[in-house]
Amino acid sequence: MFVFEQAKGNKEANYEQMLKQCEALLEGETDWLANLANTASHLFHVLPDINWAGYYLMKDGELVLGPFQGKPACVRIPVGKGVCGTAVAKEQTMVVEDVLAFPGHIACDAASRSEIVIPLRIDGKIVGVLDIDSPVEKRFDQVDQKYLEAYVAIVLSHTDWSPILNGSCFA
Ligand code: SME
Repeated sequence: MFVFEQAKGNKEANYEQMLKQCEALLEGETDWLANLANTASHLFHVLPDINWAGYYLMKDGELVLGPFQGKPACVRIPVGKGVCGTAVAKEQTMVVEDVLAFPGHIACDAASRSEIVIPLRIDGKIVGVLDIDSPVEKRFDQVDQKYLEAYVAIVLSHTDWSPILNGSCFA
């Protein structure tokens, strides 16, 4: 059983603890579906002021909804559309302080006000994104970006991506 409490207090210290928890959560497990499901749940329950955390994975040239926590979300996002598709097209993390001011933002939960999207890059190829939404405007800053990118790096390094890279997980 894992018991994770929502982080309170110093932001950097909380993130350092979260990264250790992530390592512990993934220890000895390389299954992509299990690891994405467990880390979506971990992020959702530990990060304060968020209303959605989860993954979209590339399939046949578009993003398709993967493991997540939060309200049901739109299933398919074309590359270049919304915050998620823009992160894939630009191959970079997107930090959106006010989603209402982001042209083409795709609203899955009307409560969302800010968002961070981090590409999942394996062998130079983007295979998906981590997407986190908040009901608070300007919820994510450079500290969040730095630590959430580190979190994604842990997920990437602990997981066997061959079923995704050779397409067999979607066959
Ligand atoms: N807001 C995202 C869509 C996914 S949901 O937030 C879960 C976007 O604009 O790409």
